[in-house]
Amino acid sequence: MARAATGRRKVLVARGAYHGAAPWCTPVPAGTTPEDRANLGYYRYNDLVSVQEVADQAGDDLAAIIATPYRHDVGQDQELVDPAFARGLRALCDRSGAALILDDVRCGMRLHLGSSWEPIGVAPDLSAWSKAIANGYPLAALLGSNRFADGARSVFTTGSFWFSAVAMAAALTTLDVLRSENAVAVMAARGHELRDALAEQARRYDLAITQSGPVQMPFLTFAADRDFALANIFAAESLRRGVFLHPRHNWFVSAAMTGADVEYALQATDHAFAAVRDHLDHG
Ligand SMILES: Cc1ncc(COP(=O)(O)O)c(C=O)c1O
Repeated sequence: MARAATGRRKVLVARGAYHGAAPWCTPVPAGTTPEDRANLGYYRYNDLVSVQEVADQAGDDLAAIIATPYRHDVGQDQELVDPAFARGLRALCDRSGAALILDDVRCGMRLHLGSSWEPIGVAPDLSAWSKAIANGYPLAALLGSNRFADGARSVFTTGSFWFSAVAMAAALTTLDVLRSENAVAVMAARGHELRDALAEQARRYDLAITQSGPVQMPFLTFAADRDFALANIFAAESLRRGVFLHPRHNWFVSAAMTGADVEYALQATDHAFAAVRDHLDHG
């Protein structure tokens, strides 16, 4: 839609960011052609100089810059956005006429009940949403400013599941409930409880860990953990005790989780840390 509105071709993407499984962005290129990515430029997240470099290469063919609200690439410690970076992207798009696209698919409605960059005062031109907006029902949405409305209208869209009224109804109710139950604050409170207790457990087992990202979207890595061997032990032992913790992908704290759920999870992680300690001590 940014291309339709601007009549330009180039889109800048952070290297390593996941935006979906379509040919232009799939991390696994089987079944795609180099031409599918010919109009992309890659920058480093939180590095404005690298954005400016690729923007200069795109020149007056720059249609859009896409970013996630913070860096949540799989297999890496998460990195919060530098507000100056977000503001710099906004300024660059304002200068060049390109669209600033925020991919709020994963973060949306977990960090803020609105665009995830609203708290830092940066409004995107277009933003992509899914996951939390319909509480698990299949729905995705693109939001945009009026400047992009004509471009959006000109793009042909339809699909087999286009008239998905159940998902629409679920989303309307979800949005109401997120607001009435103050869900973001609930997720943050549970997330803090989890993070503090995990840090304490790791200290007790003398394990060096890093917890990164917003507490609502936690991620834990072990120091010097080659090939995620320790993370795999930790996740497998948690799973044996009924708790799903991904070894390489961020986790999600749900607003439905109670303090008792966190306690339940922590009982499992206590055993999981013990299993990692045992592996390090005895192989
Ligand atoms: C940040 C981000 N963008 C885009 C997508 C793709 O969304 P979908 O799977 O609905 O195509 C995902 C999905 O996992 C995601 O995490």
